[in-house]
Amino acid sequence: MPERRNKTEDDITAEALERFSQTPDPRLRRIMLGLVKHLHAFVKEVELTEAEWFQAIEILTEAGRMCSDKRQEFILFSDTLGVSMVVDLISHRKPDGATESTVFGPFHRLGAPEMPAGGNIAFRDTTGFPTFVNGRVLDLEGQPIEGALLDVWQTQSSGLYDSQDESLGGELHMRGRFHTDAEGRYVIRTVLPVHYPIPSDGPVGAMLRATGRHPWRPAHIHFVVSADGYDSVTTHIFDRRDEYLGSDAVFAVKDSLICDFARHDSRDDQSVRLDVEPPFYTAEFDFRLKQASEGRADVLDAQRRLAALGARAAE
Ligand code: BEZ
Ligand code: FE
Repeated sequence: MPERRNKTEDDITAEALERFSQTPDPRLRRIMLGLVKHLHAFVKEVELTEAEWFQAIEILTEAGRMCSDKRQEFILFSDTLGVSMVVDLISHRKPDGATESTVFGPFHRLGAPEMPAGGNIAFRDTTGFPTFVNGRVLDLEGQPIEGALLDVWQTQSSGLYDSQDESLGGELHMRGRFHTDAEGRYVIRTVLPVHYPIPSDGPVGAMLRATGRHPWRPAHIHFVVSADGYDSVTTHIFDRRDEYLGSDAVFAVKDSLICDFARHDSRDDQSVRLDVEPPFYTAEFDFRLKQASEGRADVLDAQRRLAALGARAAE
């Protein structure tokens, strides 16, 4: 008796699941079975047409074309669909007191310069308000971590990252690597962060427009904080006054990461000590790291792999 070929939609799903059920690696098996199950259910639920399926292929192809060492459209899709933050929450279930993580975003670059305490990452920015961010890196018992590394990046006061600003010709700006002192202290000079729109000249922008969503991210500064023997944390600090805190285009705001940026308008001891003309801002934020978990792939390795991918795309 020949096998019946005119299968129903559910027959195809069952057969695809059966084919993946022999995957030797148990984790890969679970992922592939879950993917097929939910992808098929999605297609059936919305009754995806062939034209829509072609459009999805076009969108993904265009996303791939846009990726380079300066642009990661797939991360942007993941971020704007809320997937990055769900993965973040699953991957970084932190004990109470540890600094919470948030999205990595597509604008990290390797090779930020090492800077001394108080080093100015905004040395080319002539329009922003001078801002000093300082604090400590501590363990969960509140003990200082000496020699912790803070990899910091931020937009210029124009709202553009260096890689989006053609006038910089590829030069690094608004980036720095700082180390903590014996008391776990760090100080960074920058400019006041501003809210800015995520790139919307590609398929992600088209999705936001078609769905009536805005592209704005609340003002923030990015950090990856790492130290030997501790889990590193990829995070931001956000300005408490920002109007987009409640509607971040990438769902990345966590209450514990909101920080006060205090304005100073007068020339006083502090302005003299910091060697700055008012008005300027100060913000204080302590990072708390958890002792390293065994067997956890370090987030920095993933970031390096991603940078290598971008570099290859740009060749
Ligand atoms: C960022 O903050 O750099 C960012 C994060 C997610 C998407 C786009 C930009
Ligand atoms: Fe950002």
